[in-house]
Amino acid sequence: MAITTQQLIQWKQQGRSIVALTAWDYAIAQLLDAAGVDLILVGDSMAVVLGYETTLPITLDEMIYHAKAVRRGVKRAFLLVDLPFLSYQESIQQAIHSAGRVLKETGAQGVKLEGGYPQMVETVARLVQAGIPVMGHVGLTPQSIHQLGLRQQGKTQETSEKILNEAIALEQAGAFAMLLEHIPADLAMQITQKLTIPTIGIGAGPHCDGQVLVTSDVLGLAEKNPPFAKVYTNLRQTITKAVQDYALEVRERKFP
Ligand code: KIV
Repeated sequence: MAITTQQLIQWKQQGRSIVALTAWDYAIAQLLDAAGVDLILVGDSMAVVLGYETTLPITLDEMIYHAKAVRRGVKRAFLLVDLPFLSYQESIQQAIHSAGRVLKETGAQGVKLEGGYPQMVETVARLVQAGIPVMGHVGLTPQSIHQLGLRQQGKTQETSEKILNEAIALEQAGAFAMLLEHIPADLAMQITQKLTIPTIGIGAGPHCDGQVLVTSDVLGLAEKNPPFAKVYTNLRQTITKAVQDYALEVRERKFP
């Protein structure tokens, strides 16, 4: 049976850590789902797999196209899709329209959006009222790369209080979970203790209710990785070697 928002919240209460990864196509999604990943995110970081430099250029149509392929590969995991840059910031109506398209066209169970108050808190409340589960995303928010860079956030008392208050406000607005990106571990611990909804960390230390990584980083497919990523295998090397072996055999007429 597919994992639900209630299940994820229950796992927080039970202290069971949530395993999350990103996916961008059917084959990857099927492998992650079969390996027991609890939450699969069609993240806008997929922009990098598509050859973009940042997450800004990816469109809602591209997200939907890939999310449909991912949906076909996911049976058990909770399926979440990122709302891309400028598909929800313009107005609440735009956010409802974009999130509604994601749920209707892809079969995803929820959306994630970046940022806190004041505007995003209101947006989350209205999406939730419309029946759309929303995961908040605070700390480093890559869609604001030109304002924040890709630096760790929440290092000063002022910014750490802001992030904590945003997380609380987003929970009060009805978010079912909170992604904490690239913030100090003690701040992530404080947020995790304060919230009743699960926190999913990336570069936020070990005290979150779950962890997410970008799958292309985990598999060693990315050309460069953020400092907090862990590379579990080097598929760039493996693929290069396999392709070189194949090319050699074809040229030397050893294959077929
Ligand atoms: O787009 C993405 O991959 C993300 C990560 C922070 C998990 O949001």
